[in-house]
This record gives sequence, structure tokens and C-alpha cells, in this order.
Amino acid sequence: MKIKHWGASLFLLLLSQQSMAEGTIEVLHWWTSKGESNAVGVLKKRMETNGHYWKNFAIAGGGGQSAMTVLKMRAISGNPPTAAQLKGQDIQEWGRLGFLTSLDAIAEQEQWDSVLLPEVEAIVNDLQLVKYDGHYVAAPVTLHRVNWLWINPHIFKLAGAKVPTTLAEFFVAADKIKAAGFVPLAHGGEAWQDATLFEAVALSVLGAQGYMKAFVELDLTALSDAKMVEVFRQFKRMKQYVDPDSTGRRWNQATEMLIHDQAAMQIMGDWAKGEFASENKVAGKDYLCVPVPGTQGMFSYNLDTITFFKLKGNEQDKIAQQDLARTLLTPSFQRDFSLYKGSIPVRQDVPLTDYDACSLASMQAFKIAAKNSALVPSFSHNLATSSDVQSAIIDVVSHFFDDPTADPKAAAMRLSRAVKSAM
Ligand code: GAL
Repeated sequence: MKIKHWGASLFLLLLSQQSMAEGTIEVLHWWTSKGESNAVGVLKKRMETNGHYWKNFAIAGGGGQSAMTVLKMRAISGNPPTAAQLKGQDIQEWGRLGFLTSLDAIAEQEQWDSVLLPEVEAIVNDLQLVKYDGHYVAAPVTLHRVNWLWINPHIFKLAGAKVPTTLAEFFVAADKIKAAGFVPLAHGGEAWQDATLFEAVALSVLGAQGYMKAFVELDLTALSDAKMVEVFRQFKRMKQYVDPDSTGRRWNQATEMLIHDQAAMQIMGDWAKGEFASENKVAGKDYLCVPVPGTQGMFSYNLDTITFFKLKGNEQDKIAQQDLARTLLTPSFQRDFSLYKGSIPVRQDVPLTDYDACSLASMQAFKIAAKNSALVPSFSHNLATSSDVQSAIIDVVSHFFDDPTADPKAAAMRLSRAVKSAM
């Protein structure tokens, strides 16, 4: 680590002397659902306990597209926030533009190099998710599994449906649920939600290696060949199980349909678990979590990172900023935050005693998938590609899903062309 030791020690001395100093902390995020707000509340409370002022900077919109637009405006006008929920390749882009600040002193003091789960460490190093030019600029916060199918067991029972393990079984169950008068698939009306569903179907049809070839290597043939056509075909079949009122629906409203016995299934990352938890629903009893049919043993991940900006403001704000970075990776924060968020901690020393069946299953699946080369980055949550490529994919996928006459073969060709021009 390239820090001068005397500089770091002086800085840390100042930090310990002034940690009760009031600095302002403004973290841009899109954690606005009930479960997400509970999780952010943990951070706010800790920062306030440490003597800082928490200035709320939440921009609604799962997936974060609106938040990223606001972030660009704030940064370009010379007034970036303390930090932002900023992920994937975008971190390198912001680093190249000179916007990010170093967290090396905190990282050294808190031994960030040796506390992460080895599988998380491998991911953040491979994808350059926390460092720019060899310096820490972001803190890994929490790890989500995206390829989950959430189930309302009550409706399944009433409909006489069986929990599906393949896509074919999914459609059999969905038909039964529809016949029993329930919405089979709770789904919202935002493009990123379509992409999340598409990504799950793609993993199921293509397998982990095929997924990597298409969405990480961006192999243009894999993006347009017969297998991709099949992905679009299966994806389109899902549409008939979504109710006609899905337009404009947010992901958490879709989860509420399961909570209130209106819909039987949702395909969504485990931030959905935060919603069940906020309504005191119990995993394994009130709701079930199973891998998206056909993706058993695979794990598509979404690693949330908070990235830190160079501040022009006063010293207290800078001290508060470093205190924020330190807090994010402490074991107790990691635990409390992830319990609300539905995710799993990124540190290796967080006791898992309070986690429910779904989180424990997620941790186990994560480790097994890592061993078996079945761990894939989620493109719909910005972990696999640049934002430009991601937007191009989401555009094609979402238009296809919305157009009843769209042809799977033409869509696969369009996908390949759109990715090529965005690369
Ligand atoms: C993801 C984010 C998750 C979750 C989700 C829905 O992009 O990484 O933490 O909040 O959006 O808002």
C-alpha cells in the first residue's frame, strides 16, 4: 500500500481526536423501500452516534438509473456527495475522471486486505470494484444473490402447485396458479426489473459458462445464436403470467403482492427478503426462497459498494467521510445492515447465528458456486459490463418484453447489434 506511514498515523490521530466533531455526511443511494430504508437507518444512526450530521440523499428507483443521473449532475457542478452507491466498472470511470478520494489510511488501519470472505476478495480484485490505480476508493458493503425465486406457499397449496425446479415446471405451476385465480408472477413495470427477469432466464437456459460468454465476454455470436433466441422465447412466455396492472409498479410493490396473498411468485434479488422481514414474515414458513428454476448451484451476484468522492469542504466533513468508510466494514455494521437488507455480509468474521434460512442458503450457494465456476456477475445490476452496454441490453430486453408481437429471433440479433455499438 502506497501510503506514507507518518502521514497515515497523523491522520488517524486526528480522526480519533475529532471523531465526535460534527461533519456532514451525504450518501447518494436508491435504498427507498421499507427494507432498504431500515438498512440505511442503521448507517444513519451510527453516523449520528459518532457525532456527524446525516443529510439524506435518496433518489428513488431500484437499479439506480435515476440516482446515477443525479450523481453526474452533482459531480459536474463541482458539488459531489460524501459517497455514493456506485458499482462495477463505473468506479474505474469515475476514478479516471479524477473524482474519487483515497481510503488507504482507513483500509490499512482496519486491515481491509485480510478481512473479506476470500470469494468476495477474488471478485473485488478481478473486477476492480474497490480500488482505482492501486488505491482504495470504495468499500464493499454487502452481497446479494439475484437468481432467487420467491414463493407464497399458501397460494401454491391452494392451487395444488409444486415448487418448480425447471423452467418447464415453472410454467406448469404458473398455469395452475392462474387457474386458481391468483397472479402467478409478481412483476413491476420498470425496465431494470425486466432485465432482472431476463437475466435469470438467461442463466437458466445458457448455464453459467454460456451466461459469461454472452454477458461478460460480450461474444457477439453468443448474444445472437439459437440459444439466445431460446432465452428470449422463454422470457416472453413469462409475460402471460404477469397481471395487466404491472405498468409503473416498483419491485417492492411486487413483493407486497406475495406478502398480501395476491401473487404466488417473484423473481428478484434478495433485497426482496428485506421487504418480507419488514412485515415480520418468516423465511421457510410465510415465504420460500428457491433458486430460479434451472439455476441450482449457480449464483448471480450483485455486490453493493459505496464509493467515495474528493471533497472540497471543511476538514470535519473529510473526517466524517473517513469515519463513514471505517464504519461500513465493521463486523457489527455488516451484520445489522445485511439483516435488514436481505443480503449476506462481505466479511469473513461475522457470526451467522441470527441469519434466516434464505441468507444461510445464499452464503452456502455462494461458496459452492465459487468453487464450481458458477458464480456470475449480474449485468442488470451493473456488475458485468459498462453502464453503456448495460443500458443497451436493458433497452432491447425491455422493449421486447413490452411488445406482444416482438420476435425472439429478431430480438437476439438486435441485442448483439446494440451491444456491439455500445462497446
Ligand atoms: C440494486 C441494489 C440493491 C437493491 C436493488 C433494488 O441495484 O444493488 O441493493 O437496492 O437495486 O433497489
